[in-house]
Amino acid sequence: MELQELRRVLGHFVTGVTVVTTMDKVGTPFGLTVNAFTSLSLNPPLVLVCIDKGAQCYRCFDQSKIFAVNVLSEDQEAISRRFASRGIEKFAGVKWHRGKLGVALLDGAMGHIECKVVHSYEGGDHTIYVGKVVNTAASGKRPLIFFKGKYHRLPRQEF
Ligand SMILES: Cc1cc2nc3c(=O)[nH]c(=O)nc-3n(C[C@H](O)[C@H](O)[C@H](O)COP(=O)(O)O)c2cc1C
Repeated sequence: MELQELRRVLGHFVTGVTVVTTMDKVGTPFGLTVNAFTSLSLNPPLVLVCIDKGAQCYRCFDQSKIFAVNVLSEDQEAISRRFASRGIEKFAGVKWHRGKLGVALLDGAMGHIECKVVHSYEGGDHTIYVGKVVNTAASGKRPLIFFKGKYHRLPRQEF
């Protein structure tokens, strides 16, 4: 299976876009753009995210055992691009505040899901983190959508 072809075919699956954040021991925020986010269980309340072992913030994720999923709204494409860029100060100029666990919650997101890691699993070049949901919020904004490698928005008339 050609890597590029696999990426192309998998890109046919429509997803939302999230920025998953965590922090180091002294509270410095880290985060990256993630669409490998899934709701897993309602009772107990569990979600999962898949984080690339090669990401610069990977070590921080592996150590902190807490994370927050920021579900991006349709006007946050620039935020998505920013948190998918390497080697920049991702939080510079971005408005955020700390949630109950102390992890960064991005202002303007359509939803926040704060989690404590309860399991982690090998997933090839990624690690799968299962988080127990400890706090949530939803703003009622409209979602940013990712499909075939591009950003999209829901048509106005339907929702
Ligand atoms: C739409 C989109 C979805 C992404 N989904 C994931 C993902 O699910 N998991 C992941 O590890 N990286 C994902 N990435 C790539 C990371 O956001 C990107 O490589 C990031 O720069 C890695 O963090 P780092 O800067 O700490 O290395 C995605 C990027 C984009 C644009």
